Amino acid sequence: MPITAQWALAAVLVLLIAPRLLRRLQLSRAKHPSLTGHARIARMLAKFVPCYEYDDEHFFRADGAPELVATQRRSAFQRLASLYAQRFALTAQKTAEVQGGISDLQFTARYRVPFQFSRLVRQHLNAGAFVSSSSGPTTTDLDGNRRYDLTGSYGVNVFGYNFYKECIERGSARVRDLGPVLGALHPLTADNVQRLRQISGLDEISFHMSGTEAVMQAVRLARYHTTRRYLVRFCGAYHGWWGDVQPGVGNPQRARDTFTLRDMNTRSLTVLQSRRDIACVLVNPLQALHPNIAAPSDSTLLDSSREAHFDRAAYTKWLQQLRAVCTERGIVLIFDEVFLGFRLARGGAQEYFGVKADMVTYGKTVAGGLPIGVICGRRDLMRRFREDRPADVCFARGTFNSHPYIMGAMNEFLLKLDSPVIQAHYRDLDRIWDERAAMLNKQLLEAAVNVRVANLSSVWTVRYLQPSQYNWMFQYYLRAQDLALSWVGTGRLIFSLDYTDADFAAVADRFVSAAKQMQADNWWWPGTELTNKAIRRRVLQEMLRVRLHRPLDRSVALAEDTKELASKA
Ligand SMILES: Cc1ncc(COP(=O)(O)O)c(C=O)c1O
Repeated sequence: MPITAQWALAAVLVLLIAPRLLRRLQLSRAKHPSLTGHARIARMLAKFVPCYEYDDEHFFRADGAPELVATQRRSAFQRLASLYAQRFALTAQKTAEVQGGISDLQFTARYRVPFQFSRLVRQHLNAGAFVSSSSGPTTTDLDGNRRYDLTGSYGVNVFGYNFYKECIERGSARVRDLGPVLGALHPLTADNVQRLRQISGLDEISFHMSGTEAVMQAVRLARYHTTRRYLVRFCGAYHGWWGDVQPGVGNPQRARDTFTLRDMNTRSLTVLQSRRDIACVLVNPLQALHPNIAAPSDSTLLDSSREAHFDRAAYTKWLQQLRAVCTERGIVLIFDEVFLGFRLARGGAQEYFGVKADMVTYGKTVAGGLPIGVICGRRDLMRRFREDRPADVCFARGTFNSHPYIMGAMNEFLLKLDSPVIQAHYRDLDRIWDERAAMLNKQLLEAAVNVRVANLSSVWTVRYLQPSQYNWMFQYYLRAQDLALSWVGTGRLIFSLDYTDADFAAVADRFVSAAKQMQADNWWWPGTELTNKAIRRRVLQEMLRVRLHRPLDRSVALAEDTKELASKA
């Protein structure tokens, strides 16, 4: 081939390949550098994490603390264990009886604390999983322990349990005549639709059985109407457990049609601006509290690097930028408000941040305490068929969609939403919860404990200021103070809006007492000079030793660390 032809061929190839390379580069640059930002690598590495457990000796000295400190911790653990055994006896016994038959319980029990510590904790600090009643912001277990509820029932409980009991009771009474007739609609459905249209500012509504299902259908519709392939989600954001929105650890299959981009970063905007194959962008506004970080859970709390800080102005600007680029590129902007909808404002995150989405998903609270997923969307996006192509449909049905009992409880919820009592909750909402968080932080500061809280309105997370491998123990001190936490422990505290100042003051006092006791028991051993990085490095070394079938000789590691600390001193 003559040389000029070769050059021409090379030039054509470069012209063809260069745009692809550029797009690939842009995509790589828009990924968050953490493992959470690299779903494929995270899934691959997860398979190599070996299981090992600290024995009794190392359980109390994982951070290289001297024997004296370990002894203090051991006796504190024993004290706590006998308190649990005494106070939660019936609840724990009932749980033990059924645990083998309930997969969910086995999973949550296993992932309350880092796996290295899990066995001893499961054996000795078992508060059980059963509750028998609720009242106001409290729940009561089978042993009669009444606790302030900080679980928020996964976010469902926005207005207090009494509110939801009423929604369910009154709603059930209103649909009783029809009973469980499915397919045909109860007349209350029409009112629900009108109210949701008004609240969301969007044209059409569809009802589903869970938040996960609503998100699935919203994405499916976006793909159908744009005829594009990819969905974009942001690093760390939870959108339910459907495969495409959960591309990382937890999903046995690779999600091929999902891009996970950096939250609040202009490089992600560049990707949205330059590609033609993106159908939709999913936003979970809860990420504003901890952008690019997965929902915090104590099962991964091996050090103190958990970060959280809500900047409303910065997040508002980010949503505005997203809105602009989605409009420009014909990408469907979906706000997933399954968690936060109705918690921040009557009109949810759209109202709170002042940004309109093309579709919004609601769930959790909106059916007055019963299971639900809702999509509100623009008319052109919600249609499941094409006028000109009768065989090209976007199928979505569900046996229990629009179930009369759910429609009844939802109607009560939506009616109550406009009542003066509930409107009063929304007034000054952020001021109240920001002040409460500041008050608790002040008390923690005065008590000289290295624990703080960060909040997005009534959703809180606990932060730890001093590097430590034992922060996960704090959840057990909080439970001993009759504060109920969900299985993610101190990663997420969810308050219902019916907490009075007196209720909150009681929670704050208990919280501070728990922290002081844990400090007195020397879990946050002040002599440690360990950094978070050093903790992570040590854990990594342990994993490597186990992978290489070397004994987990912690005494050698501890001796080395002690030497290192001594030389630093
Ligand atoms: C933002 C968000 N989307 C979707 C879901 C899934 O909802 P469900 O658990 O009802 O399937 C959740 C659940 O926590 C959520 O927080």
